[in-house]
Amino acid sequence: MSLKSVACIEDLRRLAHRRVPRDFMGYYESGSYSESTLAANLADLARINIRQRVLAGAANRNQHQTVLGISQPLPLALAPVGMSGMAYGDGEIAAASAAEKAGIPYTLSTLSICSIEDVANAVSKPFWFQLYFMKDRGFVADLIARARAANCSALVLTVDLQVLGQRHRDVRNGLTVPPRVHLSTIAHILSKPSWVMSVLMGKRKTFGNVAGRIPGTENLASYMDWIGSQFDQALSWDDVAWVREQWPGKLIIKGIMDVEDARLAAKSGATAIVVSNHGGRQLDGAVSSISMLPRIVDAVGAETEILFDGGIRSGQDVFRALALGAKACLLGRAYLYGLGAAGEAGVSKAIDLIAKELDVTMALAGVRTIDQITRERLET
Ligand SMILES: Cc1cc2nc3c(=O)[nH]c(=O)nc-3n(C[C@H](O)[C@H](O)[C@H](O)COP(=O)(O)O)c2cc1C
Repeated sequence: MSLKSVACIEDLRRLAHRRVPRDFMGYYESGSYSESTLAANLADLARINIRQRVLAGAANRNQHQTVLGISQPLPLALAPVGMSGMAYGDGEIAAASAAEKAGIPYTLSTLSICSIEDVANAVSKPFWFQLYFMKDRGFVADLIARARAANCSALVLTVDLQVLGQRHRDVRNGLTVPPRVHLSTIAHILSKPSWVMSVLMGKRKTFGNVAGRIPGTENLASYMDWIGSQFDQALSWDDVAWVREQWPGKLIIKGIMDVEDARLAAKSGATAIVVSNHGGRQLDGAVSSISMLPRIVDAVGAETEILFDGGIRSGQDVFRALALGAKACLLGRAYLYGLGAAGEAGVSKAIDLIAKELDVTMALAGVRTIDQITRERLET
């Protein structure tokens, strides 16, 4: 199958599985433990029915939305995805370029392969930087300063990774701290020559934001060791206040799944929050992010902007989340599949597919603009 005959995100997923070695696809696809929360994210979205409306004069539709005060042509952003540069050489630059062409924000993960500076030098519009709060506060302060120097337009502070939820496939495949390389892994990698070529040609092979900054992290095993030792289980709202002092710009708190936490996040001065359970990769047994969205919107929607992620695989899913009060949706695996399938062109294809599906959904639901997508558009 070529990119031209791709009809939906699922096709991109299949193409990515053909191109990218099994162990990396396992890392991208997995949820934590039993993957019940990962499954719930998808199933609960699919259960939401959209009202079909006819003869509603739904011509001349547009998808403009204002996100963090900036008007953009689509109600979308690309979520931070660690190690996306292992799906395609210079993968973060490819994804950021596709986002820039679509006019939507790209979020660079702390645990990216390309560094903040690599991406800033390759694109012309500001992107968002996602921060993991690590024990080494000097390193965190330095990351924030680098994001400011790179002109990042928002800081996305992820708060749901104080400890790592185990993904069984990563343990079995040796993608652990420290990594274990199996012979079967090497055989799989060698069976994917186009992936090998693109990753070999890429600027970097390890975590670009850490490279050269922390003594003793010269190879992948020592990097993984350092990162594994850095998650801070003592994190509290005082640390958010500390970040606020370092970063006076737009602050997005990502990983909110509870009404009380949403209130505290709004009080902390966040410009926006992302209702997210990390794509089902952290607390297995948590409810789906879509099932929390309306409650959080009702509690704090008037005080802070609410973004959403978890399970978005189609324009219909975006419609569902917008109807439940999200301002915009972050795409995670949906764009990652495109990246694995075909680099920048694949990410553009993923964004385009979702935008076209949203457009048709709007027409069939009888709406012309994003602000007309309200709860009344759903069957209760
Ligand atoms: C492979 C992978 C890596 C991720 N890495 C990060 C990360 O580095 N930082 C972060 O805040 N979220 C990370 N996430 C979570 C995403 O930002 C997002 O919340 C999630 O993918 C949304 O769910 P979806 O993939 O079903 O769309 C990651 C998700 C995946 C699938």
